[in-house]
Amino acid sequence: MRLTIKDLQDMKARGEKIPMMTAYDYTSGKLLEQAGIPLMLVGDSLGMVVLGYDSTVPVTMGDMLHHIKTVVRGTEKAHIVGDLPFMSYHAEVSEAIRNAGRILKEGGAQSIKLEGGQEMAETVNRIVKSGIPVMGHVGLTPQSVNQLGGYRVQGKTISDAIRLMEDTRALEEAGAYAVVLECVPAALAQMITDRLSIPTIGIGAGAGCDGQVQVLHDFLGLFTDFLPKHARRYANLAETIQDAASQYISDVHLGKFPTDKESYKMSQSVLDELAGKVFESA
Ligand code: KIV
Repeated sequence: MRLTIKDLQDMKARGEKIPMMTAYDYTSGKLLEQAGIPLMLVGDSLGMVVLGYDSTVPVTMGDMLHHIKTVVRGTEKAHIVGDLPFMSYHAEVSEAIRNAGRILKEGGAQSIKLEGGQEMAETVNRIVKSGIPVMGHVGLTPQSVNQLGGYRVQGKTISDAIRLMEDTRALEEAGAYAVVLECVPAALAQMITDRLSIPTIGIGAGAGCDGQVQVLHDFLGLFTDFLPKHARRYANLAETIQDAASQYISDVHLGKFPTDKESYKMSQSVLDELAGKVFESA
């Protein structure tokens, strides 16, 4: 049985912190689950760290479904959240409900995430009423990068801070079961967390949130284009991969790979017979 939204809300009630990580494929999902990660997000950040776009804007429903299915196949217990990509839920509420439904029905995820506050409350409410759990996402909302004018910390002025508090309250009232706070000052995130009954999941929002989420490729040191201030590298896999590739290149050049151990054998009698036939036909 996978972790449910009720389990997550019980964790907040008990004061138990929630570790969340992004995952984008079968192998990463499987390894993260084996390590004990209970909550995974197939985030549209895959557009940048897996597909090589310079923002999350170009990511499609097809991209999301493709990757969500692979993470679901690699896991049994984790709760999988699938991101709704840019413009899959903005034009019409009915389209938002249909696309949210696809994330669960075709993708196999247990809930969806979408970006936006008060302006998305009606959409969130209608999706929730259709039986689909929704995780909100406010603060820095990367799908709006063109409107925000860059990736900046949000909520630093009194009016922005009040708006963020109202956004999170609107999402909670609309039925969201949790909310991501991205790039929000730690003190403000703490105030929001204390005032909500649903869990807050922070990324660049300080230790006071109920949970934390990190982008897998930042956490593993795999994505080297840039490292956000709020990310911590727990490994340096870019260096590990490059060292391994250099060693492989050298071994191939020097004839050290493959050895007998990595090669397949056939019997000497078959080889002798084959040599005779080759000789006869020459
Ligand atoms: O797409 C993503 O990875 C996200 C996290 C940064 C929360 O939305």
